[in-house]
Amino acid sequence: MDHYAVIGHPIGHSKSPLIHRLFAEQTGQTLEYEAILSPLDGFAETLQTFFSVSAAKGVNVTVPFKEQAFEWVDSLSPAARQAGAVNTIVRRSNGEYLGDNTDGMGLVLDLRNKNAPLTDAHVMVVGAGGAARGVLLPLYEAGVRRFSVVNRTLTKAKALAQVIPDAQFNGFDYSAGELEVLRPDIIINATSLSLSAQVPPLPLSVYQNAAIAYDMVYQSDPTVFMNTALANGTGAAYDGLGMLVGQAAYSFFLWRGVHPDITPVLSQLRSML
Ligand code: ATR
Repeated sequence: MDHYAVIGHPIGHSKSPLIHRLFAEQTGQTLEYEAILSPLDGFAETLQTFFSVSAAKGVNVTVPFKEQAFEWVDSLSPAARQAGAVNTIVRRSNGEYLGDNTDGMGLVLDLRNKNAPLTDAHVMVVGAGGAARGVLLPLYEAGVRRFSVVNRTLTKAKALAQVIPDAQFNGFDYSAGELEVLRPDIIINATSLSLSAQVPPLPLSVYQNAAIAYDMVYQSDPTVFMNTALANGTGAAYDGLGMLVGQAAYSFFLWRGVHPDITPVLSQLRSML
């Protein structure tokens, strides 16, 4: 039986084993998927041990090892190269290890399922860390043509312009006066502020005309960012559970060649939060 795993530190709370078990049931695939806690200073050894058996075909990589996985693999997909991080490793039949990054595709898949207006859209991305970086190119490829990136550290926001040179791109910090007049179609919170119940200090006017506010974080209740957006005119607000299931669906496709339907899996996970 083919064998897969998610590797991280910590890993106990990972939903990936459940998600992949549900995908396997849904698509009639037979596989084994486990969660592995790697020592912080032993990621390469953990990978070597896992791949020492021929049944081991691939892994998901999560915090804090995505950048180390980027260095470890033999080759990189365009998405992984652009993101500077690998969340999926595929062991190819020739024995080489391919690193891919499905986080951005997972977000796009979830946004599409929610009928988000992506074509020619103006997207505001809040935050400029790895999570923000990884979604820019997939959003551009899905039709987004204007990006406003807002971040505490202005230089990091502006540096992301190089990721999508053909798009209209502006980087801001929270004090920029121009923010008052921006009316993005979609606002994505790529900071982790919601985990401490904080909202990014944006002018409330940015929420006014938005169709969707999307928080990459998920919790059992709507986040403060979601509530702030809804209270200030945004049409709908979602958390990042769908992105989690979406990135897993693309990993599953890379390994198994089958696209699972994320909708029933997302409903099941939601009911368990
Ligand atoms: P990730 O890989 O998950 O994106 P990260 O690279 O640490 O994590 O990025 C976290 C993001 O949250 C960054 O945009 C960070 O802003 P800076 O680039 O200025 O550090 C943002 N962030 C974290 N704490 C914040 C805070 N208290 N106020 C505003 N932004 C914050």
